[in-house]
Amino acid sequence: MAKICILGGGFIGRFYADSLTGRRLKDEVTVVYSRSQETVDRFTQDYNISNGFTDMEAAISHPDSDIVIVALPNYLHEEAVLKCAAHGKAVLCTKPLGRNAGEALRMIEACEKAGIFTGYLEDLCYTPKFLKSLKSVRDGSIGRVLWTKSRETHPGPHADWFWDLEAAGGGAIVDMGCHCIEIGRNFIGKDIKPIEVMCWADTQVKPIEAEDHAIGLVKYENGAIGQFEVSWTFRGGMDLRDEVMGTEGTIWVNSWLRTGFEMFTTGESEAGYVVEKSETDAGWQFPVGDEAAELGYVNMFLDQLEAFENSREPQETFYDGYIVNAVMDAAYASAKSKKWEKVKLDIWKGKTGVQKPSVYQEYDAEHWFIKKEKLPNGDLVTIVKDKETGEIKEIH
Ligand SMILES: NC(=O)c1ccc[n+]([C@@H]2O[C@H](COP(=O)([O-])OP(=O)(O)OC[C@H]3O[C@@H](n4cnc5c(N)ncnc54)[C@H](O)[C@@H]3O)[C@@H](O)[C@H]2O)c1
Repeated sequence: MAKICILGGGFIGRFYADSLTGRRLKDEVTVVYSRSQETVDRFTQDYNISNGFTDMEAAISHPDSDIVIVALPNYLHEEAVLKCAAHGKAVLCTKPLGRNAGEALRMIEACEKAGIFTGYLEDLCYTPKFLKSLKSVRDGSIGRVLWTKSRETHPGPHADWFWDLEAAGGGAIVDMGCHCIEIGRNFIGKDIKPIEVMCWADTQVKPIEAEDHAIGLVKYENGAIGQFEVSWTFRGGMDLRDEVMGTEGTIWVNSWLRTGFEMFTTGESEAGYVVEKSETDAGWQFPVGDEAAELGYVNMFLDQLEAFENSREPQETFYDGYIVNAVMDAAYASAKSKKWEKVKLDIWKGKTGVQKPSVYQEYDAEHWFIKKEKLPNGDLVTIVKDKETGEIKEIH
């Protein structure tokens, strides 16, 4: 059983508390910090917590907690994590780890020096559908991964600081690209180095300094490509979709708008909350059975807290958060330069010098194989390339 201190009583702090305590689980939230006394009072009352503070340090150092969860706005992650290191408290931090790779690296260094347990709360890499598809990919069901595509788009975040370039460290990329990039990394292989990024980003709708829409390509050393698509301009709810294509198959996952649960309501009665970021409560609705579970929070805390108790590495680490920050830094550089930009990594623990696999597969002694297809008339055609002349021909 872990005794937990949550820093931040807002949107994600409540999702975390619901996931940790809203079921018959053994962990307990014992301490909470939030900026205003009003939020502290509401949070402590709603979750039956005895220790509430408006002073961050008092919450972190409180003796009645084993581990701290950082659920604060992005610009406070570094400060909070460094305070945990100073107090020797284990810490889990929400996404993005830092506003940039520099912040993430400083957090890693401070925690390593303090010798404390750390974990990265990347919930979308723990959803039931994601974990199942990752297992299929790792078991080889779709062959060698060539292309991943991950999308998170919705009409924009719920709190002011997200829209402030300085406070958040960016716009839609830093807010949601972090999920999409880490999903791609998991499918392609976390030991494969992301080498460069090409990104388009623009502010299409909102009167803000940051980007409200972006599409990026992350090139990996083994030739695989990870695509991310993020937007705060999308209308129609929250679109959470992942695709992964390999040499032997494809997986498509839809986590939010089309999950097999559809409901129509005239909206005449007090319908209330339907699901995160649904824009309307009248007409066709796409509810989600168990939001906290479907968003990965339940599996995430299971892994992270078991890792803490058993002194092992969790599935998502601060190092993963740092790599994602470095990829996002390259995305911002590319959006500005309109060129492929290198991913700058001061630490890299994975493979190096990986080559893109050969595209040559033998058909027979004289030919390379290209493809085989059964035609509508029943004929079987095989397309091959002559090894010597390079001629491409059909064999019937
Ligand atoms: N899927 C996810 O994992 C997910 C989803 C949403 C948010 N997040 C992350 O969680 C963090 C918090 O986001 P949120 O949506 O809960 O934000 P929020 O604004 O809803 O809540 C922030 C909390 O921090 C407190 N706070 C303390 N000092 C503050 C200050 N100086 N300015 C503003 N708030 C202050 C607020 O009182 C509030 O309780 C962010 O890093 C965000 O990226 C993660």
